[in-house]
Amino acid sequence: MNAKRLAAEQAVDYVHDNMVVGLGTGSTAYWAIRKLGLMVQSGLNISAIATSVGSEELAKELGIKLVSFSDINEIDITIDGADEVDKDFNLIKGGGGALLREKIVATSSKEFIVVVDESKMVESLGKFPLPVEIIKFGYEATIKKLESLGCEPRIRIADDKVYVTDNGNYIIDCNFGKINDPKELQNKISLIPGVVDSGLFVNVVSRVIVGHQNGLVKEITNYIQ
Ligand code: A5P
Repeated sequence: MNAKRLAAEQAVDYVHDNMVVGLGTGSTAYWAIRKLGLMVQSGLNISAIATSVGSEELAKELGIKLVSFSDINEIDITIDGADEVDKDFNLIKGGGGALLREKIVATSSKEFIVVVDESKMVESLGKFPLPVEIIKFGYEATIKKLESLGCEPRIRIADDKVYVTDNGNYIIDCNFGKINDPKELQNKISLIPGVVDSGLFVNVVSRVIVGHQNGLVKEITNYIQ
């Protein structure tokens, strides 16, 4: 069973005609985009905003109509994956490097549905190193400031080169260990000059759909959000 696929495809049931849809990034969001593409080919009428160049290209290939923020007032629903989800619906995202666009899109959506397999559900965040997007200028100094918050920072490398995001920035993977207060940490990180944003998503999620290896799919709704 592909648990990621099960969760992502179930989330697509929440998409209806004439909606503006935020398209996530990663191997789970892929399945949602793919199913939406098939539904569009069968007559579903939606507009979409993608959270990465990769997802934009996939959507184009599938015939999904892409729009920009200047064309819309609000996004109706966004479906995206996550690296960790805690019991209070806080997330770590950015394993795929798209955290900034993902956060802009998620926080502009009436509904933000997170799709994961069961391995992503955790008691507390932090086993997965927190990705932080920083600008290139002065990155050495920015890394030191991140370190002073109590993490082991590592600049992300891909294919033997420093990884550069779709926005032209670097990603620092920050190993904080267990994160006791995600909101407080997010506030501290965002005050560092040179930081664009972190992969901590606090108070953004409306629903989590979890796919299990045994074929079960569970939905958890965030009534507080
Ligand atoms: C992309 O930057 C990330 O936020 C992804 O949503 C996250 O890493 C989950 O990826 P997978 O769905 O590939 O596990």
